Amino acid sequence: MKVLVVGGAGYIGSHTTYELVRAGHEVVVLDNLFSGSTKSIHPKAKFVWGDIRRKSDITRILAEEAQSGHPIEVAMHFAARLIVPESMAKPLDYYENNVEGLRVMLEALIENNIKNVVFSSTAAVYGDPAIPECSEDDATIPINPYGETKLACENMIKWAAQAHDLNYCILRYFNVAGADSSLEIGLDKDQLTHLVPLIMQTALGIRDKFYVFGDDYDTIDGTCVRDFIHVTDLAQAHVLGAEYILSKGESLLANLGSGSGYSVKQVLDTARELFEVPYEISPRRPGDPAKLIADTSRIKSILGWEPKLDIKAIIKSDYEFRKKLG
Ligand SMILES: NC(=O)c1ccc[n+]([C@@H]2O[C@H](COP(=O)([O-])OP(=O)(O)OC[C@H]3O[C@@H](n4cnc5c(N)ncnc54)[C@H](O)[C@@H]3O)[C@@H](O)[C@H]2O)c1
Repeated sequence: MKVLVVGGAGYIGSHTTYELVRAGHEVVVLDNLFSGSTKSIHPKAKFVWGDIRRKSDITRILAEEAQSGHPIEVAMHFAARLIVPESMAKPLDYYENNVEGLRVMLEALIENNIKNVVFSSTAAVYGDPAIPECSEDDATIPINPYGETKLACENMIKWAAQAHDLNYCILRYFNVAGADSSLEIGLDKDQLTHLVPLIMQTALGIRDKFYVFGDDYDTIDGTCVRDFIHVTDLAQAHVLGAEYILSKGESLLANLGSGSGYSVKQVLDTARELFEVPYEISPRRPGDPAKLIADTSRIKSILGWEPKLDIKAIIKSDYEFRKKLG
């Protein structure tokens, strides 16, 4: 299949491109390089600079590929802004890039008769769930503008699918981490707020200490429990999701996590088995739920997908990638 990956120069889009290429698919990447890098684009993928908020940038690519006799069959959308505190400070920027960007892209796809869309969503759409294991049928009550924009995008896709006969695969990610086995790509960002990279930066001496926020939650060891998924497992689920909607002509909305929770302390201890990580227990942060895990039964049964890489593999790959970065 031929796939347009918008946001393919970013962390998850680049890993998905690697898996698409490994599975023998053809990829065209469209990215405005706002937070991505051309270094992350697989050498076998075609790269076109462009912004999804400008319809002509998308239609130009779609027309070119159609003229080549081998048109785009599936579009994957990763082109979002995703830093929660920033979304609180600049909500309108988030609506403009995430919601308006998707609206323009859908319009271009529909006008060019492209019927299959894969969309990156997030567990942030659940907000602060009443039950720690989130299922797709649970209430979606986001607690920040980032989550709100992602939910608005999900709903836009569902309504557009109904009106214009599209197939969609919406995947709600939990905590994504790790790096590709080639170590060519990984999470390479200045503003790192994710747990695993913060632990790794401490192991590498870039940070003095890792802070554990709260050890008095009602969990196995008092620290928060989260669902961690290796980015390669996550990327492979996108390949299966795209193949599924294209071949079956059906849609799917599913959680995408490992389905197993690890506490912050367990992640830290796994890292400390491999490297030294100075840490300190500090007070709870407001708004952190004690436990958040994905119910992954839907994606497993529909796509036959299973995560293959555990927390040790996540930590090791991130560490190796970061060490290589220097
Ligand atoms: N990283 C995570 O832990 C995580 C968790 C849940 C969901 N997600 C979702 O996954 C997707 C990808 O996240 P990521 O971590 O790879 O982020 P990222 O910032 O690394 O990648 C986003 C890419 O999209 C590009 N982009 C942004 N706006 C664009 C626009 N208007 N036009 C063209 N390109 C644009 C950026 O330049 C970048 O290359 C996002 O939709 C995000 O909401 C990520």
